Order: sequence, then structure tokens, then C-alpha cells
Amino acid sequence: MKVPVILSGGVGSRLWPLSRGMYPKQLLPITDPDLSPLQQTVLRTRAAGDFSAPIVVCNEEHRFIVGEQLAQVGASDASVMLEPEGRNTAAAIAVAALHAASIDPESVLLVMPADHVILNEDRFLKAVDLAMSSAASGKLTTFGVVPTSPETGYGYIKRGVKLYDEVHQIESFKEKPDRGTAEQYLASGGYYWNGGIFALRADCYLDELQRYAPEVFEACSAAYSKMQHDLDFIRIGTEEFMMSPSISIDYAVMENTDNAAVVALDAGWSDVGSWSALWEVSNKDENGNACTGDVIVHNTRNTHIYSESKLVSAVGVEDLVIVETDDAILVTTKAECQEVKQIVKVLEHEN
Ligand code: GDD
Ligand code: MG
Repeated sequence: MKVPVILSGGVGSRLWPLSRGMYPKQLLPITDPDLSPLQQTVLRTRAAGDFSAPIVVCNEEHRFIVGEQLAQVGASDASVMLEPEGRNTAAAIAVAALHAASIDPESVLLVMPADHVILNEDRFLKAVDLAMSSAASGKLTTFGVVPTSPETGYGYIKRGVKLYDEVHQIESFKEKPDRGTAEQYLASGGYYWNGGIFALRADCYLDELQRYAPEVFEACSAAYSKMQHDLDFIRIGTEEFMMSPSISIDYAVMENTDNAAVVALDAGWSDVGSWSALWEVSNKDENGNACTGDVIVHNTRNTHIYSESKLVSAVGVEDLVIVETDDAILVTTKAECQEVKQIVKVLEHEN
């Protein structure tokens, strides 16, 4: 059984003020006026034809929005698993793996973040095919993206020996290295960014999790043993789940396992983590401006403008990000836009 697992737990704080706690970026029509990234993610594997209905793991406070968005794309048959509070990706993937394993322990999961953009779906599906067969053979398989800059927000994968076709053993995996280390990786070559998409056999992931992060495994197993259906949703034991350490699959498992493989992904991938990343994948005018909503520009270049309710105009500026929503306005440069999360921290502190 091939199962899409969609992780929809993040808050997307670098895309403030558009992305908010109640409406994180994966539930907003940020790159397509009709579909949210969550919906696009559902449709992406449906095109492959041989996947079962997806498992979506999300925070319980998003359940009705998620349920409604799934229904809109004909995916009411999805299993929506609710987390009482996020415990990061190692735990989110564990409960999905336990659920899939309860039907078929050798289920192969395609774990996808709900907030990524993939421009070339054909190439994506080709890489998925390879990764799913690698995962079926027992390897924890990731998708490697050729790095273009020493980004520190990604995992770095050192490619090892070729296993078959374009599937390579992972020699080492380093999550979010510091700048100097990322620069060294880029200079030495042979590294990929981790695309954050994983193909995993449910039993193999759970084995490695039990070995390297037993507390996550124990907490998730205990939480799943309390599993209950509630309307169209699946609830797990709250107290048990909250006992899990909050750690990502990258730190908990991928940095430690020696049973991992990587498949190259060259499909216009972006994790749309920031306004500049969103600008990269948006449609732009002949001067490189990406404008959404009521926007007029003059002598303006390479600027991203998003207007929700007011007319926004820009004259004689370059490389800016301007975002207007009902209750907030953001002006920053594309170079500094990673720092928007600091504003969210200040706001959280005030509230
Ligand atoms: N359900 C659920 N619960 N989903 C979660 C949780 C959680 O507690 N935490 C994160 N997610 C979802 C996010 O919504 C996102 O879709 C995905 O899991 C990855 O989490 P991020 O928080 O966005 O991780 P990251 O971007 O810092 O790093 C990961 O992705 C990079 C590529 O975008 C890592 O896998 C890196 O190695 C990778 O390079
Ligand atoms: Mg991310």
C-alpha cells in the first residue's frame, strides 16, 4: 500500500502577516488563487494514480478548515489525525506510520510537507517512483535538491555510493548547519539540500525511531493505542502524545541512521519558507514584480506586493516586499525577509 502522508502542522511565521496561527500558509491560497498548498499537495499524488487516500496530520484547532479544504478537492476519504499540540515531525510521522502499519506494516509512506511548491509535477512523480521503490526495499529515502546557496535553514545530505539507477546511499546527514559549514559543503560539492519529503516504509521508520528516539516512539505508540474516531477525525491520546519530546525527523532519525538513501529532485521545488522564496515561485511582470490584489507599480523592480484590502502602490523601489492585510502592513527587503519571524516573536510576547 502506498500512502501519502501530509504534514500540516507549521505556522509559517516568516510569511507574517499573511500566515497566522489560525490560518497558516499551507491553508492560504498563496501561490494559486483557487488552491491552498495543502490542496495542491493532495492533488500532486492523486495524479500518480496508485496511492491510497492520504493521511493528513494537523493540529486539532485546524481540523474544520482542513476538513473543508479536503472536501473541496474530493478528498473527504482522507484520514485526518489530530495533534493536541505539535510535537514536531518525528512524532507527527510516527502516528501516521502507526496508523498505516495497523492496516499494512509494510505500507510505504510518501511524507510531504503541506506547504511546498513543486512546479514540475511530472519530474516530481518520476523521482517519487524511484524513491518509493527504494523505500519499499527498506531504505529511509529522502529527496535531494541541488543547493544554490549556503542556506542554513535546510538539512544537508552527503551523497554516498550509488545503489541503483539514481538512488544513492546517504553518507551523512547534517540538519541546519551553521553558515561556515554550509559554505564548506557547497565548495566541496556532492551535497544536496534535504527537500523535506521522505519515502519511508512504516515498519522501517518505526524501527529506526525506536532505536534513536525511543521516547518519541514510546509516547506516540501509547498515544496511538488510545486512538478514537471523532466525526471525520482521528484523535490520539492527549496526555501520552504530550510526553513526546519535540524533535524533527531530521535530528531524531536522519542524522543517526545508516540505512538511508537519497533520490535527486529537480522539479522546481521550493519550501516557500519566506517572502523571497514565494516571490521566486510567483508569476511576475516584465520587471520582475509579483503583485497580488489591488496593486499599481511604477519604475519598480523585483518587488513582491500583496494587497488584501487596500490599493497598494509602489514607485521607484527595488527588491522590496510589501504586504497589506486587514490589520497589518509589512515592508521589508527580500534580503532581510527571513527576519520577519522576529516580529511574530515580539507579537507573541505582547499577547
Ligand atoms: N503535523 C505536524 N505537526 N506537522 C508539522 C509539525 C508538527 O508538529 N512540525 C512541522 N510540521 C510540518 C510543517 O508544517 C512543514 O510542512 C513540515 O512539517 C516541515 O517542518 P518545518 O518546520 O517547515 O521544517 P524546516 O523547514 O525547518 O526543515 C525541514 O524542511 C527543510 C526543507 O524545507 C527539514 O526536513 C530540513 O532538513 C529540510 O531541508
Ligand atoms: Mg519548512
